Amino acid sequence: MATNRTFTMLKPDAVENGHMGKIIDMIINAGFEVKAMKYTRLTEEQAKEFYAVHAERPFYGELVEYMTSGPIVAAILEKDNAVADFRALIGATDPAEAADGTIRKLYAESKGRNAVHGSDSDENAEIEGKFHFGENEIF
Ligand code: RTP
Ligand code: MG
Repeated sequence: MATNRTFTMLKPDAVENGHMGKIIDMIINAGFEVKAMKYTRLTEEQAKEFYAVHAERPFYGELVEYMTSGPIVAAILEKDNAVADFRALIGATDPAEAADGTIRKLYAESKGRNAVHGSDSDENAEIEGKFHFGENEIF
């Protein structure tokens, strides 16, 4: 079903720092097709729910505060092997450890403010896409 799709968010630091266009360019040049995209801002409730898996982690409060600090771009992307290929394109969570040429290496400020989100599994890609776009807007 969703095995060729992933979900991404360009996080508040990427938008705030003016990197939105360059990052979308990199995503398209890497062969991803945009299936849905919106410029929006997460409420505290939405950010808490989206990152609920990290609720017990020490950085959870900071993460929710950061993710609600400004607008984001949410998108559903399609490509063969989308989840793994997109994780490779964005690089490691901490930009200091991310490979050269990856989005996080180029544009992330820090491990906490790391420019972009990429789903970590096909199952989560579907859940996260529906969280932002519902059932009917996915085409
Ligand atoms: P993401 O879910 O955003 O694509 O990032 P990820 O899989 O590479 O990393 P994950 O472990 O899922 O962590 C989610 C987000 O939490 C923030 N974080 N901060 N300060 C810290 O030690 C720390 N660790 C994680 C990052 O924004 C990370 O992307
Ligand atoms: Mg993650």
